[in-house]
Amino acid sequence: MRRHRAQVETFIAPEDDERLTAPPKERGFLVAAEVRSARPLLRAQESLDELALLAKTAGIQVVGRAVQHLQRIDPATYIGSGKVREVQELVAQLAADVVIFDDELSPNHQRELEKCFGETVKVIDRSALILDIFAQHARTREGALQVELAQYEYRLPRLTRQWTHLARQAGGSSGRSGNGGVGLRGPGETQLESDRREIKRRIAKLKQEIEAVRAHRGRHRAQRARQGIPTIALVGYTNAGKSTLLNALTGANVYVADQLFATLDPTTRRLTLNSGKQVLISDTVGFIQKLPTTLIAAFRATLEEVSEADMIIHVVDAAHPQAAAQIEAVEDTLAEIDVPRLPRILALNKIDKLPNGVPPLRGADRYAAIVPISAQSGEGLPLLISEIERVLRESMLEIELLVPYQRGDLLALIREQGVLDSAQPTAKGMHIRAHVPPRLAALLAEDKI
Ligand code: GTP
Repeated sequence: MRRHRAQVETFIAPEDDERLTAPPKERGFLVAAEVRSARPLLRAQESLDELALLAKTAGIQVVGRAVQHLQRIDPATYIGSGKVREVQELVAQLAADVVIFDDELSPNHQRELEKCFGETVKVIDRSALILDIFAQHARTREGALQVELAQYEYRLPRLTRQWTHLARQAGGSSGRSGNGGVGLRGPGETQLESDRREIKRRIAKLKQEIEAVRAHRGRHRAQRARQGIPTIALVGYTNAGKSTLLNALTGANVYVADQLFATLDPTTRRLTLNSGKQVLISDTVGFIQKLPTTLIAAFRATLEEVSEADMIIHVVDAAHPQAAAQIEAVEDTLAEIDVPRLPRILALNKIDKLPNGVPPLRGADRYAAIVPISAQSGEGLPLLISEIERVLRESMLEIELLVPYQRGDLLALIREQGVLDSAQPTAKGMHIRAHVPPRLAALLAEDKI
């Protein structure tokens, strides 16, 4: 008995928008399941819109989509078996060569679905697609290593015949992952076993390499901390406009593209505030709902930049119809990677696309300031800069310190980063009261400068 008649919506994709993708290589059919009891951030259709953009970014032409409303996920085939047959027919009619599921499929679902769709049609999921895009976009060595590690960890429990899509894409982009030495098509049991061993060996080696790169990066961060310059992390949903904002604020030449995940590796630039004080601003990887778990783990390291910042600017595309859900997805991920409660500014970007102003937002009380801006036209940026200064000033801590006379450098540092309230000469040195950023206060308290 069929409890709920499946809703199927198909369409032929309009002409590809060249801004978004390289020329399409494969024809993709998208599938989502909407479980009645679940409360996802986005409804199935909205999530599929996003999946379509992801597919486009990966160079896949979307030729159709289907949504099934279910009481629960089918333990064997994820969507119901009747629905699988419907999708098979549509896939044949539309000559699709890859079926993309909007959620992370379990290894069992993946295997069953591969059996259903046969040799000629590939089955992948949202996580595989995101990992694929990350692999194409990683530019620094650490980024490439982390994505490669995430890909192998994702693949290990799913090792079957279907590697071709990811393997080819990853191999072509980072030049490191992919086919090399690992059998991809139709391995027999023994082949599978040796592939597993090979992947485990690579995972171990990648972890070592990442450790080495991180140790190097850690030294850089320590250097920065010694300088005590307050650091601001730009975070936001993919395509919100973080790189554009960094460029607009600092004149940096950071790659901007109307693509998902154009930025993968953190870029840090210096910004001088109105008072002449300096801050460092870092761009970070874009967030997205349903981020693959292996990727969250891999990027925890990159996102350390966020944890160690003095302030967060959360950039949101205020003109996006799902702006509110995107804000929640970013805040959820920040909570998941244990980012401490840092002062936050919400930058409502792309207001040039909102002639009637920004619609009201829930959860605004989380932010020390909310500033409407257009990173593209420059509107609102002077206000953003003065709000950065105000929020930094308000987050400063009052300190009282005896500075030995030979440490004039410390006084200079305190003046540079904070506000010197009073300085009294004593026999042992200068007794000062000042307001400084929390990070500098911690360094001074621990006598680490
Ligand atoms: P990821 O790298 O995916 O995390 O993206 P991002 O947040 O760094 O976004 P990026 O700066 O690459 O901008 C994404 C797209 O939005 C680009 O096409 C930008 O030109 C566009 N964009 C950014 N800011 C604005 C703005 O204020 N107004 C308008 N209209 N478009 C903008």
